Amino acid sequence: MTSLQERKITKNLPSPQRFKVGMIGGGTVSSSAYAILSGDSSGNHLLSRIEVVSVAVRDLKKIRLIPQDILTDNPDSIVDDPNIEIVVELMGGTEKARELIERALRNGKHVITANKSLVARHGNELDALAARAGVSFKYEAAVAGGIPILRTLKTSLGANKLRKTMGIVNGTCNYIVTQMSDHQMSFTDALAKAQELGFAEADPTFDVGGRDAAEKNVILSKVAFGKDVDVSQVLADPELVKGITSIESRDIECARKLGFTIKLLAVSEIKPDGKLLFFVSPHLVENKHPLAAVKDAYNAIFIEGDPVGDLMLYGKGAGGGPTASAVVGDILNVVEGISSGVPVISASTLGSAEFATLSKEMHSKFYLRLLTQNCPTAFGGIMWLFGEANIAPEMVQQSITDRGLLEIVIITEAVSSQKLHNALRIISGLPYFEKTVNALPLLEAS
Ligand code: NAP
Ligand code: HSE
Repeated sequence: MTSLQERKITKNLPSPQRFKVGMIGGGTVSSSAYAILSGDSSGNHLLSRIEVVSVAVRDLKKIRLIPQDILTDNPDSIVDDPNIEIVVELMGGTEKARELIERALRNGKHVITANKSLVARHGNELDALAARAGVSFKYEAAVAGGIPILRTLKTSLGANKLRKTMGIVNGTCNYIVTQMSDHQMSFTDALAKAQELGFAEADPTFDVGGRDAAEKNVILSKVAFGKDVDVSQVLADPELVKGITSIESRDIECARKLGFTIKLLAVSEIKPDGKLLFFVSPHLVENKHPLAAVKDAYNAIFIEGDPVGDLMLYGKGAGGGPTASAVVGDILNVVEGISSGVPVISASTLGSAEFATLSKEMHSKFYLRLLTQNCPTAFGGIMWLFGEANIAPEMVQQSITDRGLLEIVIITEAVSSQKLHNALRIISGLPYFEKTVNALPLLEAS
């Protein structure tokens, strides 16, 4: 930047020239955000004008990197402090966080959060409240951590008609399946390691059960397609949200032998009739597809749009540093807005979303792993019922498990998910049938 430009920006800064920030939460993300805001500001001159004046935590006695003299155990004191212009909510949870954010917005403060649960459930009301108060409500960090996906979808890709997003948006799940696949780690050990590394939610069932990815997909659907998805409705429907808890080492091994890798994908797609196909499920992703190369806690969002074509954004989706990068990016965006005198742009300018009518009709090839008792009629009986349902297999393998059961692995032709589930329901009624371990869609490289 030239000194002339610098002088111009400095001249435009309102008084007071320092922007006072209050953070609610002093954990993984907040500590990293604090380190950026209190560290070397040579990369961006605006950083030196931002001062974290107060950080609310639950336990004042915990050892942390944030100085003791700015800690408080009273988050209300932050949202009510007239000197604080920007409130950063990083405590998590929905009820208390919502109450504090609402109060902060009503008090005329800009609010930044990484709280996807909250944004997926109450984002619309909070967007509207921020717009009425003339302040910003920003949540770039809520989806895919360090990847600047929301602003990219809305601004850089604003010229496009977007058709579909497919995201690896849960770092914990991606870390677990990568460790199971590349290092033969058990599911339990991999989850414990993800918790130790600070990727997992306070309740890790939110990660492995698919809820976290579903909440992020709700936000993506709104930003990419202007479709408002009822998060409670999708979370209540096991056909729409599946996590990785059913994935066994054996599935990972079968996938590998077939040239695929297992990934939890959050899919959102506008169908020609305007309905939204919304689901979260583990997929078998062909190794040649770019999403297959996304490992560990990395996230990626593969986007199909017109005229841009296909593109993929890739980066670290969890952990203190990457998430704090997005949080501080939002703070800088607010500060830039204030200091340039441009009216503050609220997330509500993302546009009002219309209520989504959901479609469950997915057309795909499927990977099936079925277990039956090992009796002479089992294999023939199951294959006959697939034939009756008009579902042709592209590949079938059978083997005997350690427990003496017959395991049948099938790759189907492309079929509708409803047709497949109907067939599996009928097959599950066979007297010798044990269970469908997994029925996962395939994502092939085009
Ligand atoms: P965390 O490490 O558990 O930190 C939460 C912080 O909030 C802790 O410092 C805790 O205080 C404080 N806190 C909780 N309830 C409080 C209350 N009632 N009053 C005052 N302070 C309270 O969580 P995190 O991993 O940083 O995540 C924060 C948010 O970012 C969550 O919404 C999460 O979903 C989101 N997020 C996290 C990541 C990630 O990789 N970690 C990525 C993207 C988004 P104590 O320290 O005293 O317990
Ligand atoms: N628990 C989340 C994940 C944190 O693993 O992706 C980032 O949102």
